[in-house]
Amino acid sequence: MSAEKFDAVDIIGIKRDRGVLSPEQIDWTIDAYTRGAIADEQMAALNMAILLNGMTRSEISRWTAAMIASGERMDFSSLGKPTTDKHSTGGVGDKITLPLAPLVAVFGVAVPQLSGRGLGHTGGTLDKLEAIPGWRADLSNEDLMKQLADVGAVICAAGAGLVPADKKLYALRDVTGTVEAIPLIASSIMSKKIAEGTGSLILDVKVGSGAFMKDEENARELAETMVALGKDAGVNTVALLTNMATPLGLTAGNAIEVQESVDVLAGGGPEDVVELTVRLAEEMLAAAGLPDADPAAALKDGRAMDVWKRMISAQGGDPDAALPQARESETIYAPADGVLLELDALSVGVAAWRLGAGRARKEDAVQAGAGVRMHAKPGAQVRAGQPLMTLLTDTPEKFERAKEALENAVVIGPEGSRPAQKLIIDRIS
Ligand code: URA
Repeated sequence: MSAEKFDAVDIIGIKRDRGVLSPEQIDWTIDAYTRGAIADEQMAALNMAILLNGMTRSEISRWTAAMIASGERMDFSSLGKPTTDKHSTGGVGDKITLPLAPLVAVFGVAVPQLSGRGLGHTGGTLDKLEAIPGWRADLSNEDLMKQLADVGAVICAAGAGLVPADKKLYALRDVTGTVEAIPLIASSIMSKKIAEGTGSLILDVKVGSGAFMKDEENARELAETMVALGKDAGVNTVALLTNMATPLGLTAGNAIEVQESVDVLAGGGPEDVVELTVRLAEEMLAAAGLPDADPAAALKDGRAMDVWKRMISAQGGDPDAALPQARESETIYAPADGVLLELDALSVGVAAWRLGAGRARKEDAVQAGAGVRMHAKPGAQVRAGQPLMTLLTDTPEKFERAKEALENAVVIGPEGSRPAQKLIIDRIS
């Protein structure tokens, strides 16, 4: 007879039959899977039952708590300043963390931004920053605390001790078609943010072709679930629903996104990147108790750039070094005159990924210079033959597949057609 408290097959059966798991069953499931007593194929079946049949709010809350309990919890209380963090559910051209973390730190709020590498068509913040010569993503907990005390902002890799259950579960979901389950996404994201120990959290929940959540209804449900989980855990949590039908800014890649972020920190950069950076900074500062701070001014007058340079240098990077450039490029031209109505985020993300900016497997290397540079955004007037995008890679054999991904990415309509979509769709608190 097994010494285990429950049987994995019974647990799977409960969710398959639309039942509700007890707190003890949930605690056991996460613990048993983390230590290897539930097999991958059993957890995969349970994940699929959760994707198809859902979970109650109290099941999600307990599932999240059990995931947090699988590892260490960080504690920033010794810093003596408020902490705040931002999490984006991921999108194409989403480089916002890069200008945002130093911008918020300007106001004396600590920003511990534990980030990940990209998998699939959405880029990873760490992959982008690794384009900067010398920059290191891995910090010890002591270095992280020291940098938060000295500089105020850190963007680094989450240590292996933080929510080990999620590392195993996420890798399994990734290969079993179960990433999209709202209870599993919400618990995965919030367990890491709560374990990280931030005092407040702003969630940027993306909606559209380039996001996990393709429609607003699902994005709203995900945002509401995460906000409730954060509040239950004592983390002041707010979510924005933002548009990911088209890429953010004019770049999707690694080094080119770092350059665009530096442009924003220098007081320039694309309008949408500036708008979202400033809005998220305002939300983070208000959540941390500074509702009157003026982040737009700190972008314009160079204070955010100063913190950026110190943040990059503290992690071994040279903020003034030239960024790597792709060896080869190819241009895509507008096929007709008119208004650019659509520039599809998913297509651009897949093209950047195929050019070498992203990875298909965890162990793959990314090309720092690869990606897609866009020359127009939806709403812009274009002329036939005008460059619309430049594809960048070190490996020109990748151009063909990247161009295939972009075949239906662009829609050009007659003059006076539909205006560009709204960037910030809603706020959920
Ligand atoms: N990001 C995460 O950390 N987890 C998910 O499940 C999805 C996105």
